Amino acid sequence: MHFSAIARIPGDSILSLMDAYARDPNPRKFDLGVGVYKDAQGLTPVLSAVKQAERFLLDHQKSKTYVSGHGDVAFGRLVSELVLGKDSPLLARERAGATQTPGGTGALRLAGEFIAHCLPGRGIWLSDPTWPIHESIFAEVGLKVSHYPYVGSDNRLDVEAMLLAMEDIPHGDVLLLHACCHNPTGFDLRQQDWQRVLDVVKRRELLPLIDFAYQGFGDGLDEDAWGVRLFARELPELLITSSCSKNFGLYRERTGALIACTHDAEKLLDVRSQLAGLARNLWSTPPDHGAAVVATILGDPQLKSLWADEVEHMRSRIAQLRAGLVEALAPHGLAKRFAHIGEQRGMFSYTGLSPEQVDRLRDEQSVYMVRSGRANVAGIDASRLDELAAAIAKVC
Ligand code: LMR
Repeated sequence: MHFSAIARIPGDSILSLMDAYARDPNPRKFDLGVGVYKDAQGLTPVLSAVKQAERFLLDHQKSKTYVSGHGDVAFGRLVSELVLGKDSPLLARERAGATQTPGGTGALRLAGEFIAHCLPGRGIWLSDPTWPIHESIFAEVGLKVSHYPYVGSDNRLDVEAMLLAMEDIPHGDVLLLHACCHNPTGFDLRQQDWQRVLDVVKRRELLPLIDFAYQGFGDGLDEDAWGVRLFARELPELLITSSCSKNFGLYRERTGALIACTHDAEKLLDVRSQLAGLARNLWSTPPDHGAAVVATILGDPQLKSLWADEVEHMRSRIAQLRAGLVEALAPHGLAKRFAHIGEQRGMFSYTGLSPEQVDRLRDEQSVYMVRSGRANVAGIDASRLDELAAAIAKVC
């Protein structure tokens, strides 16, 4: 038999939580697993701006023929402006260009392929911890994957240890950074930390790859781009992956971009020719619908403003849930222990709960979260914060 030697492998540590949660008959279960935003009704809504853009496309889209290897031109320009800022000199000088990809994950894969094929011998450095798929994507394309520390034994961001380790990264290697809302920890670099990382990057001549999956979910659309824009201003070359899954709520439409920044317009053409060639072998041309929606929204001032309000609503709801959970833990004497939940940014909180405590939460209380102790705060039902706090207290 052809397949007899094929072994079964465990399901993805994050996505398999969706199935486990769906199978649980307990009506009082909690879904804090995969990173999706839920509203007060427990739904992951289609944003109003997206609905309006979809109606417009239904009426006006004239063709479903392929888009180019780099995707829709308007989408590429508008996403680049969202990430780099409308007045970015890189855009004016044609030093930056976006390649449309199937989600942020597709952008990361394309970046990995680009590094493996076009910059042979370069290793990649990831924060410890990081999103588990960073580990597998870059290993899959054959890159040497190494780590720099990010969180100390006290479950807090350890900037000094991070910077010390970065000083030993070999010249020319690739440094992956999270632009904001670090996944899984929720601990973000402050502006002065970004500046210090930039100094190391310059000294060690590293190539930064910045993963920007949660723009707007930390402190705001522009605020969250602070580090990315600093690096774009100060460095001749940079790679950025941008995702529209969370901030446009377009999860299943797989919408993202890899933005390459080069030291001049000529080099951008060289780099983009390689990216188009690599993408051709991966997915040929990118899926259109999500990108068409994003381009419609960002290209229309009224829709853009409606969308920005919706992002701000999601952002402030997550911030309220963070504060609410810490408050709900207070009667159990746990407010201090979990104070970091209120300080972290974005959807995720690295709670500090051990894998055993996470298992008990799932088995005894039907609370689902990643075994690393990562909880998707954006998935909490605000009316049940006390119940969740009581469940956590039972395993602490
Ligand atoms: C997550 O980390 O939960 C999200 O980014 C979804 C995913 O694909 O893992």
